[in-house]
Amino acid sequence: MADCTIRIKKNGSAMVSGSFVVEDVDGNPYTIEGEAFLCRCGASQTKPFCDGSHKAAGFESAPHVGDTA
Ligand code: FES
Repeated sequence: MADCTIRIKKNGSAMVSGSFVVEDVDGNPYTIEGEAFLCRCGASQTKPFCDGSHKAAGFESAPHVGDTA
């Protein structure tokens, strides 16, 4: 059984739920128990986490596996 689930949100973040660690580019860990929303649009001021900026940025995504945006 997986320790976490990643759900791609339509035109938004990737919601990760479970028990996991996010490491930044320097390897600094963020231990998460519960949910985290990771930015996919590149506009967040709190990367790697989503801050809702994707709405103002007009981000459009491919929400299904195999879709191309
Ligand atoms: S996906 Fe939400 S700010 Fe980038």
